[in-house]
Amino acid sequence: MNLCLKSAKILISDSADKFAMLAAETIVKRLDRAPGSLHLISLSGGSTPFPVYRLLPELLTKAGLKQSCYWIQTDERLVSVDHERSNQKAIRESLFADGRLPESHFFPVPTAEQPQEAHLVSEAYLSQLQKLPVELRPPAPIDMVILGVGNDGHTASLFPETEWQKDDKRGFMLVKPKSQPEARISLTSQRIIAAQDLVFLVSGSAKQQIIESIFLDPANACPTAVIARQRPTTWIFDNSAISEHLRKSL
Ligand code: 6PG
Repeated sequence: MNLCLKSAKILISDSADKFAMLAAETIVKRLDRAPGSLHLISLSGGSTPFPVYRLLPELLTKAGLKQSCYWIQTDERLVSVDHERSNQKAIRESLFADGRLPESHFFPVPTAEQPQEAHLVSEAYLSQLQKLPVELRPPAPIDMVILGVGNDGHTASLFPETEWQKDDKRGFMLVKPKSQPEARISLTSQRIIAAQDLVFLVSGSAKQQIIESIFLDPANACPTAVIARQRPTTWIFDNSAISEHLRKSL
């Protein structure tokens, strides 16, 4: 069966604990080869990426890249910054935990705890990002967007049940997915598609079904599939996320 994602580079680790190192090494190699002296990386949340983020400081330091990387969020739940569901809390506790990387290079979403302020967050984030080095400021393309995939095929906070293809000139938009306990801010699909590099990190057998469908079913119209069909992508899997059926097509 043909793969629906023509320009997908696929890397598969043979175990869960090797997955984090494979992903971190791949990310650093890509950044090391990227043009430009500064790099803007957009970080997803959820759960998969944090063991990968924990390995980045040492690898980036060895590569001489620790001062040249700047970090933003792919999406964020609108909860307080110390809430257990806060992505920026988990990013601080992984990517910046050992103090090697300058936390001043991290530009987290200015979350609003009051629901009535939610519509102001995209604008507030955009003005925060004007403090990035000029060559990294929007609308410059993001150098690398790190993404996960939900079991429903969402990526970032672009959920199937939302108007996820809506554009927003700010590059971010407020989303209120019915399947989620809180509103979120997410990069728009257009801003994701315009990035230099898209790296999907997927682990765990629970993802087999959605990944098989994204790669083999041309009728799958979930956000991840629609985005990934439009441009080159890199996928880093642990082997439990790949079904036997899909493996035969790779
Ligand atoms: C979020 C994430 C989200 C995540 C997927 C996969 O804020 O929830 O950005 O898009 O990447 O839900 O989550 P896991 O990594 O937990 O499988």
